Amino acid sequence: MKIERLFDSDNHATDPDALYSDITWPEPPSDRPYVYINMASTVDGKIVLGSPTGPAKGVGGPTDQILFRRLQRQCDGALVGGTTLRASQVIYPPELPRFTVTHSSNLPLDNRFFTDAPGRAFVFAPESLAADKALKIETAAKLIRVGKTEVDLAEALKTMRRELSIRTLLCEGGPTINEQLFRAGLVDELFLTLAPKIKGGAALPTIVTGEGFAPGSYAPVKLISLYRDGDELYLRYGINQAPVQLPPP
Ligand SMILES: NC(=O)c1ccc[n+]([C@@H]2O[C@H](COP(=O)([O-])OP(=O)(O)OC[C@H]3O[C@@H](n4cnc5c(N)ncnc54)[C@H](OP(=O)(O)O)[C@@H]3O)[C@@H](O)[C@H]2O)c1
Repeated sequence: MKIERLFDSDNHATDPDALYSDITWPEPPSDRPYVYINMASTVDGKIVLGSPTGPAKGVGGPTDQILFRRLQRQCDGALVGGTTLRASQVIYPPELPRFTVTHSSNLPLDNRFFTDAPGRAFVFAPESLAADKALKIETAAKLIRVGKTEVDLAEALKTMRRELSIRTLLCEGGPTINEQLFRAGLVDELFLTLAPKIKGGAALPTIVTGEGFAPGSYAPVKLISLYRDGDELYLRYGINQAPVQLPPP
C-alpha cells in the first residue's frame, strides 16, 4: 500500500498511509447522528461485478479494503440495508452497534452481523410487521418499530441518537438506503472509492438508486479530499443538504 495525497482541504493532513485512521468529525446535529456513507464503484459507477443484488466483492482493491475497515472504526454505529445483508457476511468490530432495516423481515439471522454481537444488533421495521415475524427477529436482534408500513429513516436516526447515544453513524449502503438518506437530507459525508474498472450493464446498481431527486434537481457535493493508490482513487465529499433546482429551459 502506498497512498498519495492529491488534494486535502485539511491543512493539517497527516501521513497519507494513515488515511481515515483518525477522523475528527464535526459536532452532529442535535436530533440525529452525523452520517457518513462509504461506497466503492467502478469508473462507470457500478457497485457490483456480479448480479445486481450479489456481493460487492472485487469492486475495490486491497487498499480499499483497508480503508473500508478503518472507516468502520470511526463511528459509534453502522447501518446497512436488508439486501446488502443478504448478499454476504457483514462483519463489524464486535463492540460496534449495528443497524439494519427491513419490511419483509426476510433477514439472514445467521449472518455475522447478528451472531458476532448479540445485544448490539438492531433491526428497524415498520409497525405493520406481523407479530410472528417480529418474534423471529427478536431471537437474534433488538427490534425497533418506526413508521407505519415503511421504516421512517429520519425517525430511526433520531432513535439512534436519543436512545442509543449514537453520535456518528456509518452507512454502508446499499443504494436503496443511500437514496432515502440523501433525499431526506440526512447525509453529511460520502466516502467513495473509484476503482480503475469499467463494468457496464444497465441492470447493475450505482451508489444511489430509487426515485432520486425531482427532475432538474440534485444535491451538490464538495470535495474534502482526494488520495490515490496507483490507479484507484479515494474521494471524500461533504454533502450540501439543500438540493439545487436548475432554472426552467
Ligand atoms: N460497492 C459497494 O460499496 C456496495 C455497498 C453496499 C451494497 N452494495 C451492493 O448493493 C446491493 C444491494 O443494494 P440495494 O439497494 O438493492 O439494497 P439495500 O439498500 O442494501 O437494502 C434494501 C432493503 O432494505 C430494506 N429497506 C430499505 N429501506 C427501507 C425502509 N424505508 N423501510 C423498510 N425496509 C427498508 C428492504 O429490505 P427487505 O427487502 O428485507 O424488506 C429493502 O429491500 C448488493 O448487491 C450489495 O452488494 C455495494
